[in-house]
Amino acid sequence: MTREEALDSVKANVENENLVKHMLATEAIMRALARRFGEDEEEWGLTGLLHDIDVELTEGDISTHSKLGADLARELGASEAMAHAILCHNSAHGVLLETKLDKALFCADPLTGLIIAAALVRPDKRLAGLEAKSVLKRFKEKSFAAGANRQQISQCSEIGLELDEFIEMGLVAMQGIAGELGL
Ligand SMILES: [Fe+2]
Repeated sequence: MTREEALDSVKANVENENLVKHMLATEAIMRALARRFGEDEEEWGLTGLLHDIDVELTEGDISTHSKLGADLARELGASEAMAHAILCHNSAHGVLLETKLDKALFCADPLTGLIIAAALVRPDKRLAGLEAKSVLKRFKEKSFAAGANRQQISQCSEIGLELDEFIEMGLVAMQGIAGELGL
């Protein structure tokens, strides 16, 4: 599967532009994590890009979300490792996070929402001038972007990253695709 094929499939299955942007942001963070850990950047990036491909198809049903996504990813040619990471990013199935790829996707997913929310409350609504320390401050405000699960983000410790370092990496990765994110 090429990146273009993966992105075409995401766009064919997801109408909501913000959801597509969420997947692009997750891809960017996953690529940065793969580079950091010397892992396969394409594999990690495409896992991030595809991880919510089924969200509209499953219409918010968490009992099917990510099961269908894993199947769709396999059909596109994803490896079992990628499909497993996609499957277990939804903890509703009770499938344990096993590999570093599983754990990376799990903590990267909610970080995108926190960073986007932190950018949107800036006067310029841009990622460019946002600093990691501001995102960290927002992280500690429980009511801010409450949907961005703090406990899940904190599980970056499971892949050996301190929270401040993880936030910095995520922010820089997303700033690198700010144009695509419209931020
Ligand atoms: Fe997601």
